[in-house]
Formats: sequence, C-alpha cells, structure tokens
Amino acid sequence: MATLGSIWAQSRDGVIGDGVGMPWHLPEDLKHFKDTTMGHPIIMGRRTWEALPIQPLPGRVNHVLSSRTPGAWSDGAYVSHDLPDLEADAWIIGGGQLYEATLDEVDVIERTLIDATLEPAVATPVYAPRIGDEFELVSDGEWQTSTTGLRYKFQRFERKA
Ligand SMILES: NC(=O)c1ccc[n+]([C@@H]2O[C@H](COP(=O)([O-])OP(=O)(O)OC[C@H]3O[C@@H](n4cnc5c(N)ncnc54)[C@H](OP(=O)(O)O)[C@@H]3O)[C@@H](O)[C@H]2O)c1
Repeated sequence: MATLGSIWAQSRDGVIGDGVGMPWHLPEDLKHFKDTTMGHPIIMGRRTWEALPIQPLPGRVNHVLSSRTPGAWSDGAYVSHDLPDLEADAWIIGGGQLYEATLDEVDVIERTLIDATLEPAVATPVYAPRIGDEFELVSDGEWQTSTTGLRYKFQRFERKA
C-alpha cells in the first residue's frame, strides 16, 4: 500500500507560516524538502499553491485541494475536492488547513524543528497540527546551524502500529 506523508517546518511554538509565506530563510530545509519529495506526487491546499515560487513544483505531480473550479489559476496541477486516491507514495506539503485535515490519514511526518519562538513576531500565524500519541518519534536529528544562523533539526515521526 502506498505511504502518505506530511512534511513541514515549524518553530518551537508551532508556527509554520504567516498566512502567505514562511517567516524564515532556511536553505537547508528547502534542500531537505526537495530531496524528500522529488519524484513523488505532492498534495497541497489552494493557498499554498498560490504562494509557490514556481507553479507547478517541477519533478513532482502537483495536486491542489480546493472547492474552486479548475482554471487558469490551477494550470499545471490536478485540482480535487478531497484527498486524491494515489497509488504512489505521496507527500502533503501544506499548509496549515491541509495538515490538520489530513493528519488522521498520514503514516509519516517529516518535521523540521526550528529553534525559534515566533508567536509574538508573526501577526497572523498559521500553526502546525499537534502530533499526538498515535505517532512515535523514530528519528531525532542533531541540532545543526544554518548558513543563515538559525538552528534547526530534522525529525521523523511514524504512526504506531
Ligand atoms: N512551514 C511549512 O512547512 C509550510 C508548508 C506549506 C505552507 N506553509 C504556510 O502555510 C500557510 C498557508 O496555509 P493555510 O492553512 O492558510 O492554507 P492551505 O492549507 O495551504 O490552503 C487552504 C485552502 O485549501 C483548500 N482546502 C483545505 N483543506 C481542504 C480540505 N480538507 N478539502 C478540500 N479543500 C481544502 C481550501 O481551498 P478553497 O478555499 O479554494 O476551497 C482552503 O481555503 C502559508 O503561510 C504558508 O507559507 C508552511
């Protein structure tokens, strides 16, 4: 059976974005995201799609969840109302609404934890979902320091059997 994963980066206080973009610059995380998702279908909410720097993200089949009718706005992506039934291992790539709505469906979470507290600084924070007891932390990477000075680490959670 195909595996469904979620991948996100968050601050210590759970912030994943400011409603438009991500309130940090972490090139190592962008590389991690690319390495992890390349070649796999990716699934995202309409707002995350609208904020992509390149539409569609290359090397991956792009799926967008939206109640809207596909059109020029969605060129390069498949639009659906519900999670598409995919046969290949796929990644949910955001944003907050979609991570929350699909948490019960995912088998794996790849989380980048950023050693920062952002709540006071970000006026309109979007949050990661809370990872509950149904998941176990199977890999907890070493803290690393980005070229930008931010500290971060990569973590992997898997759904308990
Ligand atoms: N840190 C990270 O790793 C990361 C990754 C991705 C995004 N982000 C951040 O997340 C923020 C955007 O997140 P967001 O929560 O505002 O928006 P979002 O989840 O990207 O998109 C929300 C839209 O997706 C559609 N949608 C969501 N859930 C759905 C469902 N269950 N069924 C059908 N359609 C559904 C709806 O589109 P319609 O209104 O068209 O129906 C909804 O308005 C940005 O700040 C972005 O930078 C962070």
